[in-house]
Amino acid sequence: MKNNILYNKLIIGGLVLLFVIYNFVVYNNAAFIQEHKLSDAAIQGQQLWQDNNCTACHQFYGLGGYLGPDLTNIASDSIKTDAYVKAMINLGKNAMPKYNFSEKELQEFLAFFKAVDQTGYFPNKAATTEKTGWVKLKIKNTTDDQ
Ligand code: HEC
Repeated sequence: MKNNILYNKLIIGGLVLLFVIYNFVVYNNAAFIQEHKLSDAAIQGQQLWQDNNCTACHQFYGLGGYLGPDLTNIASDSIKTDAYVKAMINLGKNAMPKYNFSEKELQEFLAFFKAVDQTGYFPNKAATTEKTGWVKLKIKNTTDDQ
């Protein structure tokens, strides 16, 4: 009986140890840890985005409010230049409120939009669904699909 308890403790201890090793190996490899390097300006832009609740009307990747357009790829839109974006923010139009940001803050918005833009495409028109149901997405800045 006493041996049994010792045996159980060993098994449980062994399993806990395995769990720890497993987690270390799985979550500590380079493929799992993704580095996101946002510039200081982009971080400030994100803060402005949150403080002013722009997401009440705008979406990134289709998530957000729906009064205004999705802004995921506005930075790479050749028609919507930086000047256009800045003017839209500080002049407003229809339901888009007129803000009064400084040039520095407008640049921070632009840096933030650029950082968001680099993360991918929305809508992802190049996505294909395989027979297995696996969706292959086209990812920006990489050569391999995921
Ligand atoms: C009350 C809702 C609302 C809020 C809040 C809002 N927007 Fe807008 N925004 C709009 C609408 C609506 C439009 C489209 C205006 C039009 O073209 O008629 C727009 C357009 C834009 C555009 C141009 C998009 C394009 O594709 O032409 C940008 C950039 C933009 N907003 C940025 C912002 C930022 C940055 C904030 C936060 C500081 C913000 N918006 C807050 C409603 C809003």
